[in-house]
Amino acid sequence: MPGFELFGDEERKQVNEVLGTGILMRYGFDGPRKGIWKAVELEKAITQTFGSKYAQLVSSGTAALTTALQGLGVGYGDEVIMPAFTFVASFEAVISVGATPVLVDIDDTLTLDPAAVKAAITPKTKCIMPVHMCGSMADLDALKSICQEYGLSLLEDACQSIGGTYKGKYLGTIGDAGTFSFDFVKTLTCAEGGVVMTDREDVFVHADGYSDHGHDHKGADRGADLHPFVGYNFRISELHAAVGLAQIAKLETFLGLQRKHHAILKETLSSIPGISFRRIPDPAGDSCTFLSWFLPTEELTRAAIAEMKSAGILGGNFYWFDNNWHYIRKWDHLKEAKTLSGLHPEHRAAVIKSATADFPASDAVMGRCVSTLVSLLWTEEQVREKGHAMKAAVLKAMEKEKVSA
Ligand SMILES: Cc1ncc(COP(=O)(O)O)c(C=O)c1O
Repeated sequence: MPGFELFGDEERKQVNEVLGTGILMRYGFDGPRKGIWKAVELEKAITQTFGSKYAQLVSSGTAALTTALQGLGVGYGDEVIMPAFTFVASFEAVISVGATPVLVDIDDTLTLDPAAVKAAITPKTKCIMPVHMCGSMADLDALKSICQEYGLSLLEDACQSIGGTYKGKYLGTIGDAGTFSFDFVKTLTCAEGGVVMTDREDVFVHADGYSDHGHDHKGADRGADLHPFVGYNFRISELHAAVGLAQIAKLETFLGLQRKHHAILKETLSSIPGISFRRIPDPAGDSCTFLSWFLPTEELTRAAIAEMKSAGILGGNFYWFDNNWHYIRKWDHLKEAKTLSGLHPEHRAAVIKSATADFPASDAVMGRCVSTLVSLLWTEEQVREKGHAMKAAVLKAMEKEKVSA
């Protein structure tokens, strides 16, 4: 997945152009910047590459989610339906705007189960936020039709799925708004950064102002800008945007390598008896950052993990079920609504109620799931070797389980 694996002269050249002017801020300083506007250029490249009408760069994927929620008018008292399997940033953003994350079950797509979403809708629901985890997508047709039926916004957290598509459209450009993260381990990296994409002018205007203290960005004199609403500072710097410009030019190369390596690994693992793979609503659109696979039981999956560990080949394999950051089971801070300054009692009670629910359907999926990170740097031979070593470890675990049964 990570674009940093193929970092090179292109990134250095872009950054040096910014250093050459000394103007590291994306706004203002029109004279001394000598025509160099890296953030503006990257926003243009994003709209051209991914096909959204508007793109607003910000300082992180978390900031992008927060900005998008504000842009969509989601705030105090509102509920946002989101999956129990995601990175903590998704609920952090929801809580930061005063809304309640309503966690619901995922299915074998590793993303929102549309039936669970429908069952969670209340009069307070304002937004559905699918998270396209590990490179692949949610069932967007089903979620869109729920949004239409109930008059809700669709915000795609596509932070982990840059370059993935659904029925020919890029993930992150299908809902009312969508976000990417450009942090250091994402498919495209700026070191830190993120973007809000939308076709809605109102959402864009809000995102543009909100991420820069409410500036309306209408005049040439920043000091004379008006502030139609209270904003924040989620600006990206010119240095970060410069790195992103070099990276976005390599997107097709990254995706091509990911897809090639993913296919070889999948083919190698396919011959393991009982193995199955994540369901992909549109298989052609998988960005292939990870290969996610299932064994028939949690016990067997744990045994396979232990075997891979003792064989020294566990690196790059993620057992999210036990992970502190990506699955509800270990989000104790959320379950206790532990924030530094406290939440309004009603908000706190709503957060705790949602986070302490049981998620048996998600547990049944996540307990059996391993995601293998697909590297850009592997040679074909190395992918095959990796696949064969993983297969041998899984078969050994199966054999041991059979003996002890
Ligand atoms: C699904 C998801 N959403 C949001 C984020 C937040 O992105 P950032 O690290 O740029 O704040 C991440 C980062 O890992 C993520 O995986």
